Amino acid sequence: MIEFLLNNEYVALDDFPADQTVLDYLRIHRNRCGTKEGCASGDCGACTVVIAEVVDDELRYRSLNSCITFIGSLHGKQLITVEDLAQGDELHAVQQALVKSHASQCGFCTPGFVMSLFALYKTQSSVDRYAVETALAGNLCRCTGYRPIVEAGLMACNQIGADQFDRCESIIISKLRAIPTHARAASFVIPDSIEQLANTMIEDPEYRIFCGSTDLALEVTQNLYTLPKLVSVGSVKEMNRVEQDNSEFRIGAAVRYEDCAGILVSQWPDLAEVFLRLGSLPIRNQGSIGGNVANASPIGDMPPVLMALNAALELRLGNEQRIVPMDEFFIGYKQTVLRPGEFISTINIPKSSGSRLFVYKNSKRFDDDISTCLGAFLIDFSGEKITRARIAFGGMAAITKRALVLENTLVNSSFNSETLRRARETVPLDFQPIDDVRASADYRIAVAKGFISRLFLELVRPNDIHRITRFEHQSMEMT
Ligand SMILES: Cc1cc2nc3c(=O)[nH]c(=O)nc-3n(C[C@H](O)[C@H](O)[C@H](O)COP(=O)(O)OP(=O)(O)OC[C@H]3O[C@@H](n4cnc5c(N)ncnc54)[C@H](O)[C@@H]3O)c2cc1C
Ligand code: FES
Ligand code: FES
Repeated sequence: MIEFLLNNEYVALDDFPADQTVLDYLRIHRNRCGTKEGCASGDCGACTVVIAEVVDDELRYRSLNSCITFIGSLHGKQLITVEDLAQGDELHAVQQALVKSHASQCGFCTPGFVMSLFALYKTQSSVDRYAVETALAGNLCRCTGYRPIVEAGLMACNQIGADQFDRCESIIISKLRAIPTHARAASFVIPDSIEQLANTMIEDPEYRIFCGSTDLALEVTQNLYTLPKLVSVGSVKEMNRVEQDNSEFRIGAAVRYEDCAGILVSQWPDLAEVFLRLGSLPIRNQGSIGGNVANASPIGDMPPVLMALNAALELRLGNEQRIVPMDEFFIGYKQTVLRPGEFISTINIPKSSGSRLFVYKNSKRFDDDISTCLGAFLIDFSGEKITRARIAFGGMAAITKRALVLENTLVNSSFNSETLRRARETVPLDFQPIDDVRASADYRIAVAKGFISRLFLELVRPNDIHRITRFEHQSMEMT
């Protein structure tokens, strides 16, 4: 059975549909209708809830989209919904701030904003506008306008003082610690070791593996498929580690973006923008690099980055292990070399000292939007000459692919206008994209050429500002 806390109440569930979402559980089975359903695809934030977990003897709070979270994922955690914040007639500080700032009109989006701000309130003691905007990037409001909402966030999250959750923290920690780390319900398995996971996958290949379910749950909520048997990697300890030595990072396939972004950005600063723009904070709290790679979408953000960095995947099938380089993992549209019962356990990324990684993402809006095209360039140079180039693009073919003609053109060339001209001409040789709902083939080619031009600008004039993110940041520092 799976066990969790619904605020302070202990809940144990044994017989439930594996693919039931937390949102449906709350609204249909618990009559907690404060949590709203807008899009059912993780895009609007109306369904935001907060999860608390014990990490290093403290409770760690994260915002999640309940519409794309399977109920079994709550095992061992505390679920907090908008109904839990006020105490009697007394609103929580976050709710009071929204009222004071006139930050709600029709109110449909408001519970989601309350919960995103509540998560921020519980995780940071002093916040700036940037932190509030990052916390709210996954919440849409269609009638109030964002200025009063952001003001409310600044007001609430800079207040000092304990709330009822701080006062109950030690009780909640001991209740959560009493729950075993592994669990099995009728059709939902939560192993806590890689052995248990490998055995489950071998014994019954009908089990569908998942981590954050930010891709998988859409099969249920958007395509209306049934997923009768699920196995979560969220508690598998070997797959939740981030390790490094002098030569490489080893990122467990179940590590969430928010738990590995910092260490990867410290090595490759360009990844800061990639992570900032990958979904919203709730998506990054839930989603994993392992899920992004295994999902095999040609527009996933991490595969081109990992390919440029020459990463390798450790795969496991029963007791058998093998290592597959990233550029051999995809074999066709949404197809990978994974065999039935096989899964990704770890992603190994060489540190590639001396190289610089440049990553450019094009999408229809800045936040919380899947890429139209993403280019990742790992470049070594000596003086003005390029000595090594590993380059991969997403959104340019049925799979993420290296740009081999471009790489060959750049190596041993100097950064000058002739090299740039020749480099731009390689795009249609490396890629023949198709028209689809996101962009036309011509547009994709133009965008990829634009990335190459920007790479050259950044190489030639490194101190100029070439990106809107840096421009915004600098103007904020100046004001
Ligand atoms: C609103 C929204 C915005 C998004 N924005 C972006 C974006 O900007 N960029 C982007 O790249 N993606 C985006 N995504 C997609 C998604 O969030 C990412 O692909 C995420 O990394 C998936 O990770 P997960 O742990 O949630 O995967 P899951 O949904 O749990 O799994 C995805 C797939 O991988 C399989 N799988 C999971 N783990 C393993 C494993 N260890 N071994 C083998 N198979 C496994 C599952 O069976 C499933 O088929 C977005 C999604 C949403 C809903
Ligand atoms: S209902 Fe829109 S994000 Fe969940
Ligand atoms: S208050 Fe109406 S959608 Fe935000």
